Amino acid sequence: MCGIAGIVSVRNISDRLLRSIKNLEYRGYDSCGVAILTKDRIEIRKEVGTVEEVDRKEKLAEPQGFLGISHTRWATHGKVTQINSHPHLSCDGTIAVVHNGIISNYRALKDELIQIGHRFVSETDTEVISHLIEEYYQVEGDIEKSLIKAFQLLEGTYAFALISTREPDKIFCARRESPLVLGVGSDSMFVGSDINAFVEFTKDIVILEDGEYAIITANSYSIKDGSTGSQIQRKVQTINWSAEVAQKGGYPHFMLKEIHEQPDVVKTVLNLDTRDIQKLAEMIHESERTYLVGVGTTYYVALAGQYYFSKIVGCYLPAVSSDEFEYVAEVNPNTLFLCASQSGETYDTLKALRYAKKKGSKTAAIVNVIGSSVAREVNHAIMQSSGPEICVLSTKAALAQIVILLRTALELARLKGHISEQTFSEYMKQLELLPQMIRQILDEKTGNIRNIAYRRAQIKNWLFLGRGIYMAVAMEAALKMKEVTYQHAEGMPGGFMKHGTIALIDDDTYTLVLVPPREEDDLYHQTMSNVEEIKARKGFIVGFHHGKSDSIFDEEVVLPDAPPLIAPLLQLVVGQLFAYFSAVALKRNVDKPRSLAKSVTVA
Ligand code: AGP
Repeated sequence: MCGIAGIVSVRNISDRLLRSIKNLEYRGYDSCGVAILTKDRIEIRKEVGTVEEVDRKEKLAEPQGFLGISHTRWATHGKVTQINSHPHLSCDGTIAVVHNGIISNYRALKDELIQIGHRFVSETDTEVISHLIEEYYQVEGDIEKSLIKAFQLLEGTYAFALISTREPDKIFCARRESPLVLGVGSDSMFVGSDINAFVEFTKDIVILEDGEYAIITANSYSIKDGSTGSQIQRKVQTINWSAEVAQKGGYPHFMLKEIHEQPDVVKTVLNLDTRDIQKLAEMIHESERTYLVGVGTTYYVALAGQYYFSKIVGCYLPAVSSDEFEYVAEVNPNTLFLCASQSGETYDTLKALRYAKKKGSKTAAIVNVIGSSVAREVNHAIMQSSGPEICVLSTKAALAQIVILLRTALELARLKGHISEQTFSEYMKQLELLPQMIRQILDEKTGNIRNIAYRRAQIKNWLFLGRGIYMAVAMEAALKMKEVTYQHAEGMPGGFMKHGTIALIDDDTYTLVLVPPREEDDLYHQTMSNVEEIKARKGFIVGFHHGKSDSIFDEEVVLPDAPPLIAPLLQLVVGQLFAYFSAVALKRNVDKPRSLAKSVTVA
């Protein structure tokens, strides 16, 4: 996730453009830059660092002009360097682009453009946009026509804004599944990744939808369909958000905002370059044993991955908690250490990684922060590109990591010939349903989940049960509950309960049971037998389950039928919302719970 801003005005825009990226900095903060049209040339100032640091060095607001774009970066393709910072220019310097998201076919496009003489200076996927439009302009002689052609060719989830000396009074922008919004002022027009880019200057907004592009001048905006170029009429809406609410995208907390970002985060993960996933699958294939490693939430990510590999590939990849790794793992040059880490700086995971390296193991990681220690120290890092996660609790980053492990399991199953090409495509199709199914749950089930959470928020002890992969989800849901509410929740495998814990069950105990879809015959019936056991002892049960309402539960969240591959991930989202609303009811410090830090860098 990065932040895009653009302003075109009848007066100087430099100070406002700088304000825009300051206000977007929470979207990415490894580097930033501006491109301002000054007289007949584009002046670029960009550097690595926070907006404040870069401004001190580069004087970002010094170039004067009536039109410009700016960017704050959360690196996905290419290291955190000055050259890779945005904006990016075309060869002739007449076009500048800022971009958010991923151009998934950029490598092929870049190769073609290089072959016909374009000179690339950065490692980014972004730079193909400026070169591609420059190339088309030579034929079309018109930026809009060139943009349409490029837009049709660029694949992935992305949004970009572009300026050109050829049409010096316009900003062009387009979006494909990454957000983009226009701001309408009295003598200025704005574009931003979200309204924080310009909420200080105007509260009149127009939202761009997927597949649309827009052209703004100082006193007009026009929105068009990216495939046909036909005009779309869309009215201005007025919002009344404060700057603080705006930063949270209108949500009361970053946790809820980040939960709601998950459909887009999953889309991004589904668009990650297949070759990176295949390389990871090959590394697993070539190793005698692969350990899936993480701590806290990422341990549960690893645990979920363990079940996917077992189910899809028939391979046992043990999940190990980073802090216990040295004490239990047998590591040698034939093993692969594969960890997940949002921050890439977690002490326990880094320690386990360094131990594995010392023993000669190959290493790989799924990481959200480019340039972080984990990302730098492994042989192969998959950057999950989920954007900054501000809330201390990991939600979107964890879901993205599980989906990457799931994609890797599918690639490995294909590589080993364990599944046919047809089965592979069927699974991928199921996976592609995930973003819309999460959206459906967020839209349709939030009220239901909130009501249960509000009614039961005072419960001080919970038992969260699940079997198979639902055990991993139950444990993660319990961790979320503990972290954010400070109430106890114990995640446990369903089958484990009757070996001791069942002694606790009476009419004053509360259990949350994660029930798989009925299609998972054995798992479903085994889980329901836990429900019966608890009922027989008069225990209170909240059920997350699929299909239709079941009176055996005292409270229930009935989810739509879903393929077994993705049903646990839907329940993960329900668990996040349940913890969130319980914490809200208890008036907890949701985004910064007591005693917790976003990145635990100490022993
Ligand atoms: C998640 O909600 C927690 N804050 C915590 O368990 C976290 O997942 C763990 O510390 C690992 O962090 P990492 O992903 O940055 O390595």
